[in-house]
Amino acid sequence: MKQLTDQFGRVHEYLRFSLIDKCNLNCFYCNPKKFQNSSLRKDEILSFDEIIRLIKIFVKDYGIKKIRFTGGEPLVRNNIIELFERLNDFKKEQPVQLALTSNGIRLREFLPDLQKNGLDRINISLDTLNKDKFKKITGYDYYDEVIKAIDFAADSGFNPVKVNTVMMKGVNDNELLDFVDFAKDRDINIRFIEYMPFGDNKWNKDDLFSYQDMKNIVESKFDIRYLEHNNNVAKDYEIVGHKGTVSFISSISEHFCSTCNRLRVSTDGKMKLCLFTNGEPTLEFKKSLRNPGFSDNDISAMIGRSVLNKDEKHPSVEDIMTYENNKMVQLGG
Ligand code: GTP
Ligand code: 5AD
Repeated sequence: MKQLTDQFGRVHEYLRFSLIDKCNLNCFYCNPKKFQNSSLRKDEILSFDEIIRLIKIFVKDYGIKKIRFTGGEPLVRNNIIELFERLNDFKKEQPVQLALTSNGIRLREFLPDLQKNGLDRINISLDTLNKDKFKKITGYDYYDEVIKAIDFAADSGFNPVKVNTVMMKGVNDNELLDFVDFAKDRDINIRFIEYMPFGDNKWNKDDLFSYQDMKNIVESKFDIRYLEHNNNVAKDYEIVGHKGTVSFISSISEHFCSTCNRLRVSTDGKMKLCLFTNGEPTLEFKKSLRNPGFSDNDISAMIGRSVLNKDEKHPSVEDIMTYENNKMVQLGG
């Protein structure tokens, strides 16, 4: 089997697929209300047939090992269980790990069917352990539901449930140790993510709570031990005496481009080689998927060629801050 190797020798085995550019939360740093007008029309979004055709090409031709569905919020996409049913059939033919990153709001409703249909891993976003602050950050009163979703996922056997916490100075930095406590009796992995600039989220370097600073504070109270991993965006630590673990995602202070193994497809079928681009796609799948003149082999060859355009590393923070067209809600991380 061929591999998706770029000019720097990085092999790409992880595909992130955004299923919808809408979210049922309005987190101020990701999906402020004013972005909402930009939602795509139904015919602009890849259909399940198109998504499955693409996934099959990536997996069969290039050995993609993991597909993570993102959004917006992926569980807002209609009939998501049908997509999983169909992928689960394909999984029997060709093993591939299926993962989901969700805000948890509709997770209890969907998880049993998702699990039955091949979902292997779940990451849930939660930026605060304070009910009032949850409402301030997200615009909605769903705190209790998200906590229940985390516990429900852990009780359903997902281990670990990864909890994504974007740490922001002056917003939730005072909750760092509370989050570590939250992992005491839970099979979860708390992941503190450095806050990143995205199209118009008003990021400012003073908002950044760096990985080193977070780690120093965690170490002042807890005994943590580094866990070795490959190709992971997170630096993972055991917390002695805790069931759960803690990780740091140092996207800004220590980028991990040299081990990047990820490719992304947006809701409207654009391939992105890096999380940080100014909107310009590397490759547009929609036209080729909808043109009977393009065979699977043609599309496969396009994918193979486009990976060679991947840059060695992402642009500087100063440049990223000026990118108006790189909205997190459209990419899902
Ligand atoms: P695992 O598959 O469990 O390792 O998950 P993941 O960390 O790849 O995915 P998730 O959707 O949970 O993303 C967690 C955070 O990592 C989000 O804030 C993402 O934006 C960030 N992230 C994921 N991939 C990349 C990347 O390629 N570069 C950077 N800088 N950040 C990334
Ligand atoms: N910086 C860091 N992480 C972010 N996420 C969304 N916006 C940002 C940002 N500006 C996180 C979400 C979710 C994950 C997919 O990306 O909280 O957990």
